[in-house]
Amino acid sequence: MSAPRQTLQLQVNGAEAEVRVGLHDSLLTVLRDQLHLTAAKRGCNQGVCGACTVVRDGYPVRACLSLAHGCTHADIETLEGLNQQAAMQALQKAFAAESAFQCGFCTPGMLITAHGLLLHNANPDADQVRAAMSGNLCRCTGYAPIVAAVLQAAAHLRTQELAP
Ligand code: FES
Ligand code: FES
Repeated sequence: MSAPRQTLQLQVNGAEAEVRVGLHDSLLTVLRDQLHLTAAKRGCNQGVCGACTVVRDGYPVRACLSLAHGCTHADIETLEGLNQQAAMQALQKAFAAESAFQCGFCTPGMLITAHGLLLHNANPDADQVRAAMSGNLCRCTGYAPIVAAVLQAAAHLRTQELAP
């Protein structure tokens, strides 16, 4: 017998989304398989790699470890919803400029985590970037270009704020 499913309302990228959810469905499953928001990636699916990172109430979280049932009162944002924000665009340009991705599988999670860092710390140093990004794994780049890209984006955004 299959597990019962319930209809829930989630707040995703500023809009109400109605989903049908089993008790054990993760937020990642609902985002990808029902709402077709596929920027968050299913990597390890056990909280290790960070590829599934999304924003919950302003902070990065692992969507694979978040039960969809627990998100009914939360404000969820995915990369699809953050793409037009200045900080996210600066990060994406900096990732391209620094060649901070190869296969790109980790990149959405990296961008979400970096975006969260810059929202709370506009002038991080390299150690702070490394610490903030330490939960996001990359098999391709060796991490140095990612750190450089986050620092470059932060510097660019500070310049923009100082511009008349
Ligand atoms: Fe969620 Fe790896 S897929 S942490
Ligand atoms: Fe391939 Fe990071 S760019 S895993």
